[in-house]
Amino acid sequence: MDNKNERGFSSNIGAIIAAAGGAVGLGNIWRFPYVVGQNGGAAFLLMYVLFILLLGIPVMLSEIIIGRRSQRNLVGAFRTLAPKHKAWMGVGVLGLIVAFIIYSFYSVVAGWTLNYIVLSCNGQLMGKNPAEITQMFSSFTQSSFWPLLYQIVFIGITAIVVILGVKKGIEKSTTILMPLLLLLIIVMCIRSISLPGAEKGIKFLFKADFSKLNADSFLTALGQAFFSLSIGMGALITYGSYIRKEDNLFTTSLCIAGADTLVAILSGIAIFPAVFAFGLNPTSGPSLVYEVLPNVFNSMHYGQLFAIVFFILLAIAALTSTISLLEVVVLWEIEELKWSRRKAAILSSLCIFLIGIGCTLSFGPLQGFKIFDLTIFEFFDQLTAVYLLPIGALLFTIFIGWYLPKTDVYDELSNGGKLKVRYFKYYYFIVRYIAPIALLIVIITNIIFD
Ligand code: PHE
Repeated sequence: MDNKNERGFSSNIGAIIAAAGGAVGLGNIWRFPYVVGQNGGAAFLLMYVLFILLLGIPVMLSEIIIGRRSQRNLVGAFRTLAPKHKAWMGVGVLGLIVAFIIYSFYSVVAGWTLNYIVLSCNGQLMGKNPAEITQMFSSFTQSSFWPLLYQIVFIGITAIVVILGVKKGIEKSTTILMPLLLLLIIVMCIRSISLPGAEKGIKFLFKADFSKLNADSFLTALGQAFFSLSIGMGALITYGSYIRKEDNLFTTSLCIAGADTLVAILSGIAIFPAVFAFGLNPTSGPSLVYEVLPNVFNSMHYGQLFAIVFFILLAIAALTSTISLLEVVVLWEIEELKWSRRKAAILSSLCIFLIGIGCTLSFGPLQGFKIFDLTIFEFFDQLTAVYLLPIGALLFTIFIGWYLPKTDVYDELSNGGKLKVRYFKYYYFIVRYIAPIALLIVIITNIIFD
């Protein structure tokens, strides 16, 4: 039997920071601002926060319960908790597949951050007009060699951290990187809101205009909430299995979700005032932070310095998330396939890179290759955020709300009766009825309207 102290995180705060590091990522700083921009701002933000409170936190808590109760990897967790019904293991396998898919497109954008750190350090981003900056972005992403090189470097750095292990690699690196990330983002916020004309951006982010919402924004908000919290694929089952038996799971989930939402809102504050202050367009989509922000840096005092800070921030956020994605797969390989940590990390990283090549090339030579009218990259992004994560979340809530005995759920949340869990009946009601029904509606609507 695993000794919990050897197996997992060394403290509650370590667990919270590592899991928050997994949640806070490109989803918050790259994806969040552009989807908020495309969906009209404040009203969308409000809906996003509601989804986090109503569905996000209960789903997160459910995953963590599955992980900590079983003390196992994604697939082993279901085998341990549902020994008589092997079909549940399929849910774990689905999670593994989703981890591969997300990591393969995520590592493309993560690789871009490295290129932009280099460009901002050597000054190549400065003194360019908006057309030149756009041109730079497209010629870089369309070329094959450099994006692939940066992608594999990023995947390599992630593998090194994961090889170092849970305490020495994951927990240690995230406890250094996350406070740094928070500091850097606060610096960016202060700079952005002190720009002349910043109020427009703040209004865009916080003054709701509900007429801008439609059914599509509803689904996008839910997908964004799940993607950003890293829920629906079992990353938190894996990290949950590392949480110590004496830690309070409810407060742990609140802290992770709180940190994730805070960083998303802070990145909105760092980006929109600057975008509006320079009269740029918030609806430009996935290239927002790469094409729009360099213009902002260009027109700022000490712009080069802020560009360097920003892209390092983006790389750190991405790294703590790719670590969590890789760890999901690696723990499965260690426990189920009996591979060593090193072998697991190296082989999975290579495999992810192979799939990732298709995603990178979908900006260049494979641009014309479309699946349902989407490039490979867009298809993977949509497939996971809009379909697979809600489906995963649905299955996790059914498992907790309908399969696992209620007394087990209570036992895990109360640490064997030691903690008071006054919220239990609300939580249980949500995972048993509200969340599955809401998720089913979302999934069905998605299938019908797409
Ligand atoms: N939550 C991460 C982010 O916001 C992305 C992610 C999704 C990571 C799912 C792991 C699992 O960047």
